Order: sequence, then structure tokens, then C-alpha cells
Amino acid sequence: MRLPRHSTGLLVYILYLTHIVYGSSFLAFSSVVALGANIICNRIPGLAPSQRAICQNRPEAIVVVGIGAKKGLSECQWQFRKMRWNCTNVGMPEYSMFGRVLPVGRYQGSKEASYTYAIKSAGVTHAIVQACSRGNMSDCSCDKRKGKGRFSKHGWKWGGCSADIKHGLKFSKFFMDAREIEEDARSLMNKHNNEAGRRAVKASMRVDCKCHGVSGSCTMKTCWTKLSNFREVGTFLMERYQKAKQVVSIKGRRRPVFLKLKRSRKPNKKPRRNNLVFLQKSPNYCEYNPKKGSLGTHGRICNRTSTDTGGCDLMCCGRGYNTHIKPRSWKCNCKFIWCCQVTCQQCSEMKEEFTCK
Ligand SMILES: *[C@@H]1O[C@H](CO)[C@@H](O)[C@H](O)[C@H]1NC(C)=O
Ligand SMILES: *[C@@H]1O[C@H](CO)[C@@H](O)[C@H](O)[C@H]1NC(C)=O
Ligand SMILES: *[C@@H]1O[C@H](CO)[C@@H](O)[C@H](O)[C@H]1NC(C)=O
Repeated sequence: MRLPRHSTGLLVYILYLTHIVYGSSFLAFSSVVALGANIICNRIPGLAPSQRAICQNRPEAIVVVGIGAKKGLSECQWQFRKMRWNCTNVGMPEYSMFGRVLPVGRYQGSKEASYTYAIKSAGVTHAIVQACSRGNMSDCSCDKRKGKGRFSKHGWKWGGCSADIKHGLKFSKFFMDAREIEEDARSLMNKHNNEAGRRAVKASMRVDCKCHGVSGSCTMKTCWTKLSNFREVGTFLMERYQKAKQVVSIKGRRRPVFLKLKRSRKPNKKPRRNNLVFLQKSPNYCEYNPKKGSLGTHGRICNRTSTDTGGCDLMCCGRGYNTHIKPRSWKCNCKFIWCCQVTCQQCSEMKEEFTCK
């Protein structure tokens, strides 16, 4: 069975829902949604049956999933802002929070798809754990195994609210992997990258401590685990993206059963679980080609002096660039006048901007 590829309506709903969350109290929100969850969840296209069940039973969770997926998407766009492929795909997959991301075609299993899956799955994990710690979820809060007063093996006591990463990993796996029901090479790839994304959140966690005792002498220390900033997770996954491994699927009797590294001396060597993996080589993303998931770089802003990926040479694929002169003005030389006024001058300059031909 093939589900619709792009869940176009979902973002609209999630945005609508998150709007309600921020607009009023969270509790009131969940009861409102509980009443209408049936209708809303049935209208979201591209949800697998088990995702739909969560949507209906745990509307507060689906809102957090939406926040997490959005967090993943905007991090992806930031990380790739100076690359030819900038995390924008043909066919509005920005809206397909839970469907397959790139258009299904020959290049569907690219390295870029691997990052998209990993960062989205990381975003959902991160958002769920954060919501748990903030007391916004009914079935989780702080990590109970690191409860107040318990001693850690390092001699200090646990205190405060440790992030319940275990719960976040479990929920994210259950929800994000639910869509991968095709049992083909691509769904093995997606699940592998989802896992790598979740692991990145866990790997970048850290321990924070507070000292107690006379004038901060630190005779007693309480510590808690906390999530890192999501930017760190995005950067961590970007390093993994640069070292992503090509894999091929090994077929069982009927369907592919596992992925193995394409280039390895050892036969049937599996990729590590924190590796990002891909099936097909990427196109060069220079020209518009929807079949290959490429928007092309015509009109992209580039840096004339940089020799890096954001530089015009690489970005424009040798086609050259156009120069635009744009005025830019801002407030400057601001002075504080007693009392209580601030006066500024208006400064301006002509700014050059370059875009790919
Ligand atoms: C729930 O989440 C919202 C938005 O992130 C936040 O403003 C609110 O304080 C949270 N509620 C609780 C009980 O922490
Ligand atoms: C990404 O590139 C496309 C054209 O290739 C452009 O239309 C779009 O605005 C860019 N997106 C971002 C977030 O920079
Ligand atoms: C362009 O690249 C150069 C060299 O990498 C850098 O110093 C400069 O800040 C960049 N300019 C812009 C506008 O990003």
C-alpha cells in the first residue's frame, strides 16, 4: 500500500495548532483538541495508522511533533544555506512533515535525504524531551532514574530536572518510523537515518552542575543531564552528512532485510548506527531537475570572494553571476541625551549583491 507522498495539509494544521498553544494555555488547548482530534487527525494526509492513533489519543504529543519537525527543517535550512542544495525541495516537501521528503525517483535515496530524515527525527526527539521537562506532557516529565538525592557513580547527587532522553528516543522512534512501512531499501535507509538523528541528540547531551556549601565551596554538588542547544545537534549531523556512507540493500527471500556498506573489504559489513547512509549518488544540483530533486542554483545569492561552497564559483557551477547594487541604511552614532532621549543619525551605503546566472 502506498500512502500519499506529500502531507501538504499537515503543516497548515500544525501551524494552526501551535498557534493555539502559544495563544492560550496548554491544558485548555489539549481539551479543545481532544474534542476535535478525530476530525483533525483523519484529515491529515500521509499519516500511517499508528501515527493517526497517536494523533487521536495524544493530541498534545502531535503538536510537539509538529514543533520538532519544524525545528528540524529550519535547522536543515540554516546548515545548508551556503550549499547548492539548500534543504528546499521540488514539490513542496517542506509541508510533508511525516511523508517521504524528496520526490520518489531515481535520486530519492540521496545523501541530502539522509540529512533531512536525521535532522527531523532529531528535532522531534529534542522537542519531546523538552516538552517533558517543562511539564507539558501527560506521560513524562524529568528522568526519574536520575531522581533527587540519588548519588551518581561520580560522587555527586542528582538534582533538578534531568532530561528524560529515554522517553524522547522511544517516542520519536515509534512515531517517526511508523511511516516506513514499504519494506523496501528506501525505508531501511530512512529508519537508519532516523536512528542516527535520535542518537545525535543523545550524544550531544551534557551534565550541568550546581555547587552547594559555604560561599560556593562546592562541598556538595548536584547535577542534572540536559539537552544541548539544537544548533549543536544540527552541526553534529552536518559532520555526519559529510561522512555519509553509501549502502546497498541485501535481499532476503522476498524483501530487503538489511543494508551493507557498498565499499568495504569485508563482505556484508553493516554501517554504524550513528552513520548517515544513502543509496544513490546525488546530482550536482546545478540545474532544475525535479526528477532528481534539484531546484538548480539560478538566482541564488553567492559570495564573490569566497572559494568555499557559498562562493559564486562553486554555487553558480561556472555559469557566472550578476551584480546588483542595493542601498542599505541603518541607524548609527546614537547618543543618549539627559534625560531621556536617544538621537541617532541615518547612515547608508551601497551594498553589492551577487546572484547566480
Ligand atoms: C508548555 O509549553 C508552552 C510553550 O512552549 C510554554 O509557554 C508553557 O509554559 C509550557 N507549560 C508548562 C506547564 O510548562
Ligand atoms: C533555496 O534555493 C532556492 C532556489 O534554488 C530559493 O528559491 C530559496 O529561496 C532558497 N531557500 C532558502 C531558505 O534560502
Ligand atoms: C564572503 O566570503 C569572505 C571570505 O570567505 C568573507 O570574509 C565574507 O565575510 C563573505 N561575505 C559575506 C557577505 O558573507
